[in-house]
Amino acid sequence: MVKSLTVNLSRSQRIPENLGPYQQGIRRPFSHSRNMFRIAQDFEKIQASRPEFNHDAQVTYTKPPNPEWKQGDGANDGGESLKKNHLEIDPYEKGRPSSSNYKLLISGIVPRPIALISTRSKDGKTTNLAPFSYSQVINHDPPLFVVGLVGSLEKAKDTLRNLHETGEGVINIISEHFVEAANATSINAPYGISEWEISGLHQAPCSTVQAARVKESILSIEGKVVELKEFESRASPGKKTGVLVTIEGTRFWVREDAINEDRSIVDLEVLRPIGRLGGITYGRTTEVLELPRPF
Ligand SMILES: Cc1cc2nc3c(=O)[nH]c(=O)nc-3n(C[C@H](O)[C@H](O)[C@H](O)COP(=O)(O)O)c2cc1C
Repeated sequence: MVKSLTVNLSRSQRIPENLGPYQQGIRRPFSHSRNMFRIAQDFEKIQASRPEFNHDAQVTYTKPPNPEWKQGDGANDGGESLKKNHLEIDPYEKGRPSSSNYKLLISGIVPRPIALISTRSKDGKTTNLAPFSYSQVINHDPPLFVVGLVGSLEKAKDTLRNLHETGEGVINIISEHFVEAANATSINAPYGISEWEISGLHQAPCSTVQAARVKESILSIEGKVVELKEFESRASPGKKTGVLVTIEGTRFWVREDAINEDRSIVDLEVLRPIGRLGGITYGRTTEVLELPRPF
């Protein structure tokens, strides 16, 4: 049965019309579709009107915006950006909900890599898989990765609970060929219910951790938790609202057709990474440019 509810999203004045319905911030009725996805009622229609996914898109290199740029030239827009004004936003200004900060940050700090994290429960009986885009590599010696989990250790997401209790997990990088399956793992399944079956993705063994890696993933990193830090809300002092987990990579798994001979470079054409943009938008990386480093 289709259930319907209304979600009141705040309207931003400067959102371009060509963005998806979530980013347009329009008040829209939502429905639970036949399967597990909560979508705007007219989203299926919008989706159907869009061009097909271009499976043949190759990674192309273009020139930089200003190939003639020289030291001191500044921006390449002829000074246009200097004519624009900025709005100052205090994240805690009166009446501003924290959801506005969430939406601003996830739509403005883009694209973000997505760590599809695989973990196992301490008793080894259950497995878990979920995506996290507050994630990044922050060092290579040792290889260090950070993941931000919304919530607290007390009311931990399953991934956090497992990372905390077992001290290990696997970061799988999301590629175009399993973006739908990876997205499906974000379902809030009760602890112990595995997102592996929901997604249809396959497990492959790791060497130094008990959790499985995603076999479909071009690049996976198994690792051990080296640090866990809880943060407190400013809006509700005393309430823990975020946990930073630092993971040290102990093994890299790269699909053999994606790595060069000396096993140092991952081929973007094979990796075809998916980045997270604002709302429910994902991005692919098919047009790139190169700039030599200054010396
Ligand atoms: C693309 C994407 C990125 C996400 N990034 C984060 C994130 O960085 N931090 C977070 O706490 N939740 C994030 N989520 C939501 C979690 O995936 C979601 O809460 C999930 O149910 C957690 O699963 P778990 O309880 O099995 O760990 C993201 C969801 C999606 C679809």
